[in-house]
Amino acid sequence: MEILGIDVGGSGIKGAIVDIEKGVFVGERFRIETPQPATIEVIAETISEIADHFNYWGVIGCGFPSVVRQGVVHTASNIHESCIGVNANTLFSEKLGRKVVVFNDADTAGAAELKYGCVKNFQGLAVFLTIGTGIGSAVIHNGVLLPNSELGHLYLSNGKKAEHFASDAVRKNEDLSRKEWGRRFNVVLEHIERLLYPDLIVLGGGTSKKFHKFEDSITISTPVKPAELLNNAGIIGGALLASEYFS
Ligand code: BGC
Repeated sequence: MEILGIDVGGSGIKGAIVDIEKGVFVGERFRIETPQPATIEVIAETISEIADHFNYWGVIGCGFPSVVRQGVVHTASNIHESCIGVNANTLFSEKLGRKVVVFNDADTAGAAELKYGCVKNFQGLAVFLTIGTGIGSAVIHNGVLLPNSELGHLYLSNGKKAEHFASDAVRKNEDLSRKEWGRRFNVVLEHIERLLYPDLIVLGGGTSKKFHKFEDSITISTPVKPAELLNNAGIIGGALLASEYFS
């Protein structure tokens, strides 16, 4: 089965057709800069452009950078606040003329790592973190994903929110070296370790490709590894969850 997966991010909206059996892209990924302000209408238009680019008319699964419960957007850290309260499943499906289902973006990426990547068959508590414009999280216990965990919004002992201290956007804005940023990110990991005592932490998002550059700054005792699907997990997981939702 081939399904279009979409990943809505703070800086880019990306899509690809995914082979659900294998968990891989069929052909190239297509990316459009996230228009600003990122209102729900312009996001819908951008997703529509991506679907048109692939001339795709099947069901669509979309990772969205906010808390999403039964399709309703509840938070808006890196998108326009007018998104809050909107049923994105309904709005996107109407605007696109195709059935669309929306989930939190870290949950879609975590679902992909669970099915095809490094959380596959993992017993215990795994915390998956996506590091990009914000920090997203997916908490997976013995193969079951607990949605909308939002660990990027934890307040650290320095009084700062985790994603305002150590997201990839912060690294770029403050021109931090990978090592300096890694030390900051380690503070976030220490906090998560003390709260949840996970058995495994997996790092996804663009940063996962650069893991070797900051690995030495990570000193927590929980095993930490980069995501296997790298930055493609959000798209693959969106398609996967859509295949389950519409089956
Ligand atoms: C949002 C999360 C999202 C994460 C990554 C955070 O700002 O609150 O819902 O998963 O960014 O996009």
